[in-house]
Amino acid sequence: VKNIKKKQIALLGSTGSIGKNSLKVISQHPKHFQVLYLTANRNINDLILQAKQYRPRGVVITDKKLYKELKTTLSGICKVFWGMGGILEVLQDPEINLVLNSLVGGIGILPTYHSIQLGKDVALANKETLVAAGQLIMKNALKKRVKILPIDSEHSAIWQCILGEDKKNIKRIILTASGGPFRNWSKEKLFEITREQALLHPNWDMGEKITIDSATLMNKGLEIIEAFWLYNVQLRQIEVVIHPQSIIHSMVEFKDGSIKAQMGVPDMKIPIQFALSYPDRLTLKTEYISFDKYNSLTFERPDLKKFPCLKIAIDAIKAGGTYPAVMNAANEVAVNGFLNKQIRFTDIPIIISETMENHSPLKEYSIDELLAVEKESKKYATNLLN
Ligand SMILES: NC(=O)c1ccc[n+]([C@@H]2O[C@H](COP(=O)([O-])OP(=O)(O)OC[C@H]3O[C@@H](n4cnc5c(N)ncnc54)[C@H](OP(=O)(O)O)[C@@H]3O)[C@@H](O)[C@H]2O)c1
Repeated sequence: VKNIKKKQIALLGSTGSIGKNSLKVISQHPKHFQVLYLTANRNINDLILQAKQYRPRGVVITDKKLYKELKTTLSGICKVFWGMGGILEVLQDPEINLVLNSLVGGIGILPTYHSIQLGKDVALANKETLVAAGQLIMKNALKKRVKILPIDSEHSAIWQCILGEDKKNIKRIILTASGGPFRNWSKEKLFEITREQALLHPNWDMGEKITIDSATLMNKGLEIIEAFWLYNVQLRQIEVVIHPQSIIHSMVEFKDGSIKAQMGVPDMKIPIQFALSYPDRLTLKTEYISFDKYNSLTFERPDLKKFPCLKIAIDAIKAGGTYPAVMNAANEVAVNGFLNKQIRFTDIPIIISETMENHSPLKEYSIDELLAVEKESKKYATNLLN
């Protein structure tokens, strides 16, 4: 393979679902990919195992209480850092040429921003970065000539569909959605949904937050905003189609009526590897599609009345400025509230809407202003939980 420059990777959120899948991809291609740093929030056990296996230069644990124990256990193996300060410090290592951000939530915004300022390409799973701060992130990435390589399967699909195409020929981006576990439930029944039911995604095995976001369809709303910033199209050019089999990961329609779709098994290793191997492709050990298993691929419209989060997200990006950041922050709080059994599934959109109604938006913002808005919105939404 000629075109792949060896990727020296800082893997943020290595103990999560995307983080672990990324390590599986990296292990398959030691000649092309190497891990320099790993980070976790509290999952010290997995972080220790990963450090012993991958021998990075350093690891970061966010929770300060676990720092001493981690430092003792990993002495002689690698350096140990703590907190957001630790993440930002390790990113400075000049040997890192790719930051893979698989943190969950708004906590991922600042590391993405810093990576860009340092001129490092970012393979981005952390969609919340673009949802909350897309305007700032894309502006700075352009200025610093940094590539933002999407890992989200839908955005990887769109990227693969438009490779070699002229942007002016794009008519529509069609984001596919599985519809989540409650697609066929009546509106009345959504009121009774339990944490356990919501955590059972029909097709994808993912972290808790994105699994709940998929169940409310907020995930698709976040992805509309992500696509808006990544592909610089008009909002009306982005459409959502429910495709319960999750085989087509998204599509692009061109002005001559031709539609390209990217397909594959629902395995995040595929888009992760594409972001790492681009502009080339590498062999991947994954399940390959067996068409005997699928006798039909179906499509339907999303029900915005039943799943108001999707409409809230569309309204937020239409309103622009800091509204999407507020929505994102309030969603995070509401999802946590639901996971902690403080609120019902159907309270999630209510908390988000109320937090947005209370907000006085900024049209343009600096990173500090954005983080302040995030913090304020989380505080406001947290008060609504009780
Ligand atoms: N999972 C998927 O298949 C998938 C698909 C598409 C997009 N994404 C996106 O990828 C991102 C990661 O998702 P995921 O499913 O991999 O999440 P996850 O399994 O919950 O993992 C999140 C990672 O971030 C770390 N983390 C959590 N809170 C943190 C904090 N406050 N400070 C520092 N680190 C923190 C976690 O550490 P601990 O383990 O110590 O808690 C873990 O390493 C999300 O933005 C999601 O929307 C995921």
